[in-house]
Amino acid sequence: MEDMKHLLTLMDLDDQEIVQLLDLADQLKYEKKHGIAHPHLKGKSIGLIFQKASTRTRVSFETGMHQLGGQALFLSSRDLQIGRGEPVQDTARVLSRYLDGIMIRTYEQKEVEDLAKYGSIPVINGLTDYSHPCQVLADLMTIREHYGSLKGLKMAYIGDGNNMANSLIVGALKSGMDMACATPEGYRPDEKVLEFAKNYGDHFTLTDDPVQAVKGADVVVTDTWASMGQEDEKEERKKAFAGYQVNRALMKHAKNGAMVLHCLPAYREQEITEEVFEQHADEIFEEAENRLHAQKAVMVTLMKD
Ligand code: CP
Ligand code: NVA
Repeated sequence: MEDMKHLLTLMDLDDQEIVQLLDLADQLKYEKKHGIAHPHLKGKSIGLIFQKASTRTRVSFETGMHQLGGQALFLSSRDLQIGRGEPVQDTARVLSRYLDGIMIRTYEQKEVEDLAKYGSIPVINGLTDYSHPCQVLADLMTIREHYGSLKGLKMAYIGDGNNMANSLIVGALKSGMDMACATPEGYRPDEKVLEFAKNYGDHFTLTDDPVQAVKGADVVVTDTWASMGQEDEKEERKKAFAGYQVNRALMKHAKNGAMVLHCLPAYREQEITEEVFEQHADEIFEEAENRLHAQKAVMVTLMKD
């Protein structure tokens, strides 16, 4: 994985690099559970830039870095000069002189790419409007733990063609899974991602019919209908996504015993019913835990000497 300098999108990783990250994440999880110290990043610092809210990403990066023997700095854009208009090019060059890595959660994917372009340290995408690669690594890890392997499984994603949909499509297809995505027209995944998915022929399906997508699925995934930054569209989106709820009736079409995943936060009785959420709570909270292990694997891969 010597080529891996940043984690900007899953598109940048080859299939083998994804497997290697998941293997390392499994190993770090094992070591954590068995009290085996793994201070791979002793003396290193990572800056965590947040332009949007977060519970999981912030806490898992901070504690993950601590467990690796390094330190994490929480940098809210409310307090940084970047929030007052300092160019990202300058921020990148300054932070590169203090830190060993940067994680950034922001709106535009271009800002993450610019940070990587102008800085000289590894950059990790902690969510943009376009993608959420750390989350999807944790999702793939959770599915692999459950089924033993990913190849040949079918994932169905139901709801908004957002950052999660984009990253799930890329991550699932690169992992040898079949992927069916049900989104209403006007809320499709990104064009670049759909173009990428064409390389996988029948292994990818895009439909506006949730029942068709879920048919025979081993894993059903959904996400909020109104992502961060879309708060004003909440009511309009509720109407557009009526019929795209993961509920008992829809789950009847999935394989018996299929998993349900949700990156969280989850909005009950909107994208998922309380009933289905609670039936699959063990899987969903394992998925949340796996953020910690997957991101530790990413930091070790990118930042270890
Ligand atoms: N799933 C996820 O990224 O959660 P946070 O927004 O709480 O970080
Ligand atoms: N699609 C959601 C994911 C939150 C983790 C958002 O961008 O707000």
